[in-house]
Amino acid sequence: MKAKELMELLFHWCDDNGEKDYSNTCDTVKNGDPDREIRKVAVTMTATADLIRKAQEWGADLLIVHEPTFYSHMDQHLENDPVTKAKEELLAKTGMVIWRYHDHPHNKKMDMIGEGTVKMLGFQGTWINRLWAVNRFILDEPLTPREIMERFRRNGGEHVRICGTVDEPCKNISLCLGTPRGVFEELQDPEVDVVLVGESCEWALGEYARDAAALGFKKALMIIGHNPSEKGGMILLSEMLSNEIPSLEIKYFDCGEVYHTL
Ligand SMILES: [Fe+2]
Ligand SMILES: [Fe+2]
Repeated sequence: MKAKELMELLFHWCDDNGEKDYSNTCDTVKNGDPDREIRKVAVTMTATADLIRKAQEWGADLLIVHEPTFYSHMDQHLENDPVTKAKEELLAKTGMVIWRYHDHPHNKKMDMIGEGTVKMLGFQGTWINRLWAVNRFILDEPLTPREIMERFRRNGGEHVRICGTVDEPCKNISLCLGTPRGVFEELQDPEVDVVLVGESCEWALGEYARDAAALGFKKALMIIGHNPSEKGGMILLSEMLSNEIPSLEIKYFDCGEVYHTL
């Protein structure tokens, strides 16, 4: 199987939300030859320099990523930039194909990224579609924001921060994983107790949640970190690939978090 044939198949997995023109999206090949024959497929959130080295060591022919490799949404390479040049050289040495899988999984009827995160956290309850990459989840059994934070921690999210309510049982969750649009509106909605977001603005959303809790509202903003907030979706993708295409060797690689806390 060629890299481009696998990606075409993966794109069709996301067709259940109706026809969409993806010709102008970021889900394109970022490195290597799309005609390359593949046997080993690595899946991750972000193709960091360390991750590229690890995937290369494992012998990956194709690396499927959710986030950009070159620091802009459409992976436009920065000109005259030494870091970009060094990363280009690293990638050229590997020859590995890198392909982004971002808009397609978010467009699935049940957003694949949100679905994977709900599964990773072991949430039981009801899924509600809202906006693109913004979904709601009503828990059958309430959890406090502290308990939700612990679940992210157990799955590698070591820098989760909570603004607002910490220890009140909550049922109404807004999944704003990554950095989608419309997070403030979700936070304001009286039907939402906790907003889960990858990254956020402290002076606006953080202070809103802090004031809300201090003024007697049940309201929390949980800032998880971008990669840990969405990685469940890519873990789910790797599981689906292993189940559906047993002829390929599939491995999920955790790219870790962008922060060091010293
Ligand atoms: Fe995303
Ligand atoms: Fe993202």
